[in-house]
Amino acid sequence: MMKKKIFAVMMACMLAFALAACGNTGNHMEESTVPKPGTTVEPTAETESEPETETEENTSPSDTSDEAVEIESEPEDAAATELVVYFSWSGNTESAALEIQNQTGADMFRLVPAEPYTDDYDALLDIAQEEQRNGARPAISGSIENFDSYEVVYLGYPNWWGDMPMIIYSFLDDYDLSGKRIVPFVTSGGSGFSNTISTIKSMEPDAEVLDGLSLGSSQAADPGDAAADWLRGLGLVE
Ligand SMILES: Cc1cc2nc3c(=O)[nH]c(=O)nc-3n(C[C@H](O)[C@H](O)[C@H](O)COP(=O)(O)O)c2cc1C
Repeated sequence: MMKKKIFAVMMACMLAFALAACGNTGNHMEESTVPKPGTTVEPTAETESEPETETEENTSPSDTSDEAVEIESEPEDAAATELVVYFSWSGNTESAALEIQNQTGADMFRLVPAEPYTDDYDALLDIAQEEQRNGARPAISGSIENFDSYEVVYLGYPNWWGDMPMIIYSFLDDYDLSGKRIVPFVTSGGSGFSNTISTIKSMEPDAEVLDGLSLGSSQAADPGDAAADWLRGLGLVE
């Protein structure tokens, strides 16, 4: 009888211990999935891989940034080797020349005849015609320093009697443009370039003559947009 009681008590204790143990196990599992305040969750395998991916992405811009620097440096180099050369009697071609210089950063040289032209328009018409008939080569005042260093020469002139003013012929005779890129621009009362592009090509067979810009007299006063489109089209500005 006594043995039965002792056995019953032992069984009761074992059962109570077993139930208590199960209860603790359940609580522990719940606690492990809930972060305690003030603690951090260790990254899982997935969250660990994310920073690596971001790191790779973040390196991409710095990889290409070297290329971007090189591209940015090109216009500066180009600007240092460009020159605007022009003749203008009443200011229209000069307006275009200034705009081109402004947009490209090129150096500039104005062709001025050593013997100045008259201020009288009607008299000038006759003089210009006479110069053409005679194949004149009016002398240029001053000279262009370090002309050999320029790779691109913007060449501007007004249309005079369907041709270039003879001082442009003087310039093409006096300076060697072999290997350079000539970028012509003209202002006119409507004739545009006439045949002057083929004349330049025949006088400078070893130069590359790019597509020119033709402006009407009134358009020349505000040449900004036309010049920008033209220069961009030629790839001479961004
Ligand atoms: C002597 C002379 C001849 C000209 N001949 C022509 C011509 O044949 N066709 C034309 O469209 N404009 C002609 N013009 C007008 C000029 O080409 C035009 O006004 C030009 O924009 C002037 O440029 P500038 O202000 O730079 O001198 C002539 C002007 C002058 C002074």
